[in-house]
Amino acid sequence: MNEPLHSTFKDIFATDKEPLTFFAPGRINLIGEHTDYNGGYVFPASISFGTYALVSQREDQTIRFYSMNFPEVGVVTIDLATLDYDTKHNWANYPKGMIQFMRSQGASISNGFDVLYYGNIPNGAGLSSSASIEMVTGVFLKALFDTSFNQLDLIQIGQRVENEYIGVNSGIMDQFAIGLGKQDHAIHLDTSTLNYDYAPIHLPEHHILIINTNKERTLHDSKYNERREQCESALQDLQKELQIQHLCDITPEEFERYASLITNPVDKRRARHAIYENQRTIEALEQLKQHNLQAFGELMNASHQSLKEDYEVTGIELDTIAETAQKQPGVLGARMTGAGFGGCAIAIVEKEHVQQVQTNIQQIYSEKIGYKPTFYIANIGDQAKQISNEVI
Ligand code: GLA
Repeated sequence: MNEPLHSTFKDIFATDKEPLTFFAPGRINLIGEHTDYNGGYVFPASISFGTYALVSQREDQTIRFYSMNFPEVGVVTIDLATLDYDTKHNWANYPKGMIQFMRSQGASISNGFDVLYYGNIPNGAGLSSSASIEMVTGVFLKALFDTSFNQLDLIQIGQRVENEYIGVNSGIMDQFAIGLGKQDHAIHLDTSTLNYDYAPIHLPEHHILIINTNKERTLHDSKYNERREQCESALQDLQKELQIQHLCDITPEEFERYASLITNPVDKRRARHAIYENQRTIEALEQLKQHNLQAFGELMNASHQSLKEDYEVTGIELDTIAETAQKQPGVLGARMTGAGFGGCAIAIVEKEHVQQVQTNIQQIYSEKIGYKPTFYIANIGDQAKQISNEVI
């Protein structure tokens, strides 16, 4: 893996310098979708796919970015003094945003560097390739410039980049899973307090299968922001009588009692999803602790149903995959993961059935949608970090 990256680094930047190597994973979310900006629980895990960054410092103020995933963009060259968002810098705006916000929060990033990125997360698949780029950038800037930020600071700066620099009002789940993920564990995170627990994911007889719809995701960011606004409007209605800060501060029972306060029927359905999904995420951890995978799978199925009916972020591609998967022998549960509108679904599948499940989903999906899905087995990897300071 590293050898071709090192030689590409030297070719692209015409240098003999030995770069340092860093890695940040992508993430899946087991359950707890669209709850993170509603003060609820999420249950994500970092995966072994992710983004590599090879970097070496320069003496001057120039920064050169190159991504092997976007060769058509070429080398993006900037000066440390001009870090503002620029459409023509394309993907490089993510690392630029990290540099700008780390500096504005006190990091002394005083000279430039050359950096090469390579990601093996399928592009645009909803496995958080952008948060992975942000976090790998955060960890190498911290290492290079010896800043005092801890991993949580980098996570929060990553979220700020999405919200204030890129313009997507996302929650903190993706950066958190990538920045504090742990091998073979999922993170049960309370997004209202940022308290979290690691739950071991020990599945000797099952695989977590990731199924990519391969659907092109258009208008994804604007629809995401719209969902968030609808939740905020539902919250404002509830706040007329309830002293709450977030939708997920109330239980499903309380929701049923006060739902009539929410005037817009669409907003009401969005709120219902968030509040019930939060409850499912709390229950999912309990079921996992009791090794009741069957019940965990049923909660996943119910989550998908709610994201389809109430939150309306699935679409025919994700529905075909999740609903076909749910009917297959050996599948305990299946649901979309991440923001939705395309992207990936996940399924918990008995190992002995995994091949047949893929064959069946592929056949039904291709017939209905007109192109094939892609399958990956998820391995839960470790958080963003430096992986080597030598040439391998
Ligand atoms: C995207 C966002 C997250 C979260 C999910 C939905 O991945 O980046 O913050 O809101 O969608 O759960």
